[in-house]
Amino acid sequence: MTETEAVARHYEGPQLAERILEAAAAAGIADISPVALAPADEFHTGGLAATRELASMAGLEPGAKVLDIGSGLGGPARVLVSEFGCEVTGIDITPEFVRSARILTERCGLASKATFEEGDALAMPFPDASFDWAWTQHVVMNIRDRLTLYREAYRVLKPGGRLVFFDILKGSGAALDYPVPWADSAGISFVCTPAETKAFLKEAGFVERIWNDATEKYLAGISSQAAAQGASPLSLRVVMGEDMPEKMMRVRNAVADGRLVYARGVFQKA
Ligand SMILES: C[S@@+](CC[C@H](N)C(=O)[O-])C[C@H]1O[C@@H](n2cnc3c(N)ncnc32)[C@H](O)[C@@H]1O
Repeated sequence: MTETEAVARHYEGPQLAERILEAAAAAGIADISPVALAPADEFHTGGLAATRELASMAGLEPGAKVLDIGSGLGGPARVLVSEFGCEVTGIDITPEFVRSARILTERCGLASKATFEEGDALAMPFPDASFDWAWTQHVVMNIRDRLTLYREAYRVLKPGGRLVFFDILKGSGAALDYPVPWADSAGISFVCTPAETKAFLKEAGFVERIWNDATEKYLAGISSQAAAQGASPLSLRVVMGEDMPEKMMRVRNAVADGRLVYARGVFQKA
């Protein structure tokens, strides 16, 4: 099995869209919308609020063509369409995530503005200079070859286009405890430091516009986000299993003791 197959296998689960919609019904949700689905499809620290904060920080403009790299179940893409007026193309390596993203987007009535492709971020099926923005949240932890990732993002951006990200990065370098939400073992977990990240981005050709250490900001909310996983039938437990709260708390503990840090950034194609 290749590394990317192992990553897809980690995320793959049966009938995710159908089970998310069943969980929404069980939670008493009658109107399916990006906000209603957010507890189960915003798959990163801070959830819906973090997506909104990142889009505002970057200054995403209505009509912008956005590529969501590692688009997951499509929750962030749907928010960028419905709240920021963007047109979003998502790409993800996990087939069931892509299938479910399409179904949930259709249910939200947004299929004309958010589309999803199955594919590897390291070899994206898009022509050069296709997008105004490349967007990614909580994906790089699964990608060993960071330089190729950033070169691909650079290639598909128009001149002057920008990459915006919210990522989990390596802090002290001490070993992590597994499983965490993105990996059951160290075999598919490839965090690198802020300095390494900046160096790869520079080597790919990007110019730094914003670098924001978001560690304190997001550490504060992880415990309550983990606790919320048990409070409603609609949560990331539907997607990643009953032990999702424990996986999230392992991240919280690693952030608290400095093994992991959070960073947000905006980098521009020259
Ligand atoms: C933690 S989830 C985040 C999903 C989404 N960005 C969000 O914030 O809701 C990580 C996602 O990255 C995807 N991913 C990991 N490696 C990838 C790769 N090489 N190419 C494309 N997608 C990848 C996974 O399939 C998964 O959907």
